Amino acid sequence: MTGRRIFVTTALPYANAPFHIGHIMEYTQADIWVRYQRMRGNTVYFVCADDAHGAPIMLKAEDEGITPQELVARVAATRPAYLDGFHIRFDHWHTTDSPENTFLAQDIYRKLKAAGFIEQRTIEQFFDPVKQMFLPDRYIKGECPRCGAADQYGDNCEACGAVYAPTDLKHPKSALSGATPVLKASEHFFFRLSDPRCVAFLREWTGDDRLQPQIANKANEWLGAGGDGLADWDISRDAPYFGIPIPDAPGKYFYVWLDAPIGYLASLKAHCAKQGIDMAALLADPATEQVHFIGKDIVYFHCLFWPALLHFAGTPYRTPDRVYVHGFVTVGGEKMSKSRGTGISPLRYLELGMNPDWLRYYLAAKMNAAVEDVDFTGEDFIARVNSDLVGKYVNIVSRCAGFLTKRFDGRLTHDFGADGLRLLDTLREAQTDIGLAFDGREFSRALREIMALADRVNEYVNANAPWVLAKEAGREADLQRVCSVAITAFAELSRMLAPVIPGTIAKVEALLGVSFASWDLSLAIERINPYAHLMTRIEEQQVGALFELPAAAPPPPSSPQRHAQHQQKTEDKMQTASQWEPFISIDDFSKVDLRIVRIANAEHVAGADKLLKLTLDLGTETRTVFAGIKSAYDPATLVGRLTVMVANLAPRKMKFGLSEGMVLAASDPDGQTSGLFLLSPDSGAQPGMRVK
Ligand code: MSP
Ligand code: ZN
Repeated sequence: MTGRRIFVTTALPYANAPFHIGHIMEYTQADIWVRYQRMRGNTVYFVCADDAHGAPIMLKAEDEGITPQELVARVAATRPAYLDGFHIRFDHWHTTDSPENTFLAQDIYRKLKAAGFIEQRTIEQFFDPVKQMFLPDRYIKGECPRCGAADQYGDNCEACGAVYAPTDLKHPKSALSGATPVLKASEHFFFRLSDPRCVAFLREWTGDDRLQPQIANKANEWLGAGGDGLADWDISRDAPYFGIPIPDAPGKYFYVWLDAPIGYLASLKAHCAKQGIDMAALLADPATEQVHFIGKDIVYFHCLFWPALLHFAGTPYRTPDRVYVHGFVTVGGEKMSKSRGTGISPLRYLELGMNPDWLRYYLAAKMNAAVEDVDFTGEDFIARVNSDLVGKYVNIVSRCAGFLTKRFDGRLTHDFGADGLRLLDTLREAQTDIGLAFDGREFSRALREIMALADRVNEYVNANAPWVLAKEAGREADLQRVCSVAITAFAELSRMLAPVIPGTIAKVEALLGVSFASWDLSLAIERINPYAHLMTRIEEQQVGALFELPAAAPPPPSSPQRHAQHQQKTEDKMQTASQWEPFISIDDFSKVDLRIVRIANAEHVAGADKLLKLTLDLGTETRTVFAGIKSAYDPATLVGRLTVMVANLAPRKMKFGLSEGMVLAASDPDGQTSGLFLLSPDSGAQPGMRVK
């Protein structure tokens, strides 16, 4: 076997819910990387599995009156639609609730025990006397010991941020039965992370260039200056628990986070069995690499617990060679949230018939090797895909293919001319660096470079104008040459895009009669098949339909008073979070079109005791606005001054006429006590200028 041999995983999703866009992002990142490695001739074993065990899944199944196995199977059945839909091509999908995982978890445990890394200790924990079970921290609620906030979880307070033990809570209650929990002693098993051998090993392992700098720093922080930062890790749970039994310890199960990463190996084992590969030999071979893609929230488990478990379990286990940590997908700058209408369902995306390559491309265009969040906004998504993929890449073939088909029976010439050869050389030279970018997970750089090349190809096409050549007598050879260069260049670009947009690339392969399976083999295109659309543009309505609808929004405020009231209500609702939450994104803000206006006229309104009628000059037009500022301003003093208006507020019919916008004024919450204050711009501002 030549080339690298790489065992690649993504984090195992909890088996109690379908995928969200964050999972699709992680898998897309790994899938692009794996596809690139395969194009380089490397051998990859790319596996994942459902993370099936643990108390939440057990309790959810109980709630639904089914077994945990049934719950896990039901969720597992939803996986292929997403994976196939987004062209995510794992070699194998397994489950941690499997014989392979039981075998491996028990084997690793026995080896750790033999090496002196397992310690038994009696600890006291909250026990629910009604449910007859020990309560995980998340299932105990009570008053925060620090600020007294009611209804807080057993591990931290959402009101004041305090972190504590469940036994610190005041008036604790079981979230399962409502009963007051009692303290009860039980034997637990601990993995001795505080063992000096363990600390020494982790210090070396985390300092050895395997981790992104930011992650290595974090790990170092956790290890502590004197190496005394790690507490022993409680790896056991008492029955009833949905998990793997601990050998020779009746009624004790492995904590889910012990057996979850071992699930990587269980999935590999099942895959190897199918393929007739000896997994132990594969793992033990120093030439094999083990690479984990994970999100930033599970670094502790993967960069401390997991390598330590593997290292001290010994052969055939190997420690990870690389842990590649990514940031989170945010939507419009916010954490995804269904209730705020910012959750995008990947299934909905597919059901709407949206092209999976659009999303793959967009995510990739924003991904790099750093631990940075990736923000999805509808406008940006549309702009990026339509301008790059459709406007630059597909544009090349859609402009040139027809001439070859109609005039040359689809045949290309390989006589490219000097400028054509130069262009193709430029593309081939750039390919090396683009390959390095893919290998280093700098996808955003790779795509930027590819699109810069697409620009060059489009410039070549524009300069040689095949549509002009097609009309001129005696220019057949030139026409065929220009289109052949363009199509060959398009093929080179397609090869470089193959890891990112595999669905589209399959169509291009059929169109050009070539394979893009290899990064290096030179491409020779003889004949192009009749061109059919490769990719449509994204329409705005499609993206609008993607978002789960939030609860009905409150009506827009139309006067300073209403504005203040609305603000007050929002703050009441949000009292648990910071005063300023929920935050809005810059895109939310830029929806509000604020403009400088000159107050051209201001007058009293007969019968209205709060309103003034303002005529606002926007430079290009005038608007009538009824503003609730009568208590604070004499109309005569307003005429001629500049202020700020919301120019794109929907017009509102009022008793006295149509109000076409809103002016802004400062006030205290009731809008009365200390008066109202219109805003004024600094001198120099002109009517019509945008405020942002
Ligand atoms: N079951 C554990 C992992 C066990 S691995 C041995 C788990 N599951 S999860 O379903 O919550 O998360 C699976 C992966 O998705 C993790 O790598 C996590 O970081 C990632 N993501 C979860 N939300 C995400 C985003 N919003 N954005 C990107 N990735 C995110 O943790
Ligand atoms: Zn508190």
